[in-house]
Amino acid sequence: MVPNALIETASRPYRAAGRFAWHFASAKLRHDPFFAYILAHGAIPDGARILDLGSGQGLLAAWLIGAHAWHRDNAHLAWPARWPAPPAPRSIHGIDLTPRDVDRARIALREHAARVRFVCDDIRVAPFPQADVVVACDVLHYVDANAQEAVLRRVRASLASGGVLLLRVSDADAGWRASVDRAVDIGMQFARSGRTDGLTVRSEAQWLALLRDLRFTAKIHPMGNGTHAANRLLIARPAD
Ligand SMILES: C[S@@+](CC[C@H](N)C(=O)[O-])C[C@H]1O[C@@H](n2cnc3c(N)ncnc32)[C@H](O)[C@@H]1O
Repeated sequence: MVPNALIETASRPYRAAGRFAWHFASAKLRHDPFFAYILAHGAIPDGARILDLGSGQGLLAAWLIGAHAWHRDNAHLAWPARWPAPPAPRSIHGIDLTPRDVDRARIALREHAARVRFVCDDIRVAPFPQADVVVACDVLHYVDANAQEAVLRRVRASLASGGVLLLRVSDADAGWRASVDRAVDIGMQFARSGRTDGLTVRSEAQWLALLRDLRFTAKIHPMGNGTHAANRLLIARPAD
């Protein structure tokens, strides 16, 4: 169970970016199991250089920085007993195509500008800095199949030795739940950016095959039930 106060701490900086940004942050951090998962499973090591592809309004950065501060000040009270201590990222480099989201991210995380940077660019062409962790949460389906492959190739090249890719996708074979995911993503894309580009989806098996072809070893983690039943987290590491 994610403590309420942790969600409030991580979403509070978005008040400066407007009511939508703030309410969206608290709803997403509360209901999307990805955020609890990465803390509960220690998926991001301490001191990591993080590259966040399709960083949106910077929720990953706000979550990690908020969790670290909240743990420091409140761990003795309410940090979930089974969760490891949250990591302190060395740096976070977010890339997103939507200027409004990048603005929201910069406003909310402005106090951390020395180590948290948001670039408004297209992951198909933007340079990737070297990283210990690359996160691509619900973004790769916005680019076509060739671009997905090219981006993943560049991710592999940018990963430092021992690095990891956290790739969250929807399993296109997951029936009506996958259709709901697609409808939500198209709707959200339109609401946030005015764009409605087509989506390029793959089944869980096709994502695994692509990662294998690109010489990653990947493990798959379901993301819970209900509205997230079609979501999969692929934890992939460059194979030797
Ligand atoms: C569903 S949102 C996910 C945002 C974030 N990863 C999160 O979990 O909160 C997808 C994001 O990908 C961004 N995006 C889509 N295509 C992109 C591209 N080619 N380059 C960079 N960002 C892109 C959108 O602007 C949007 O912010």
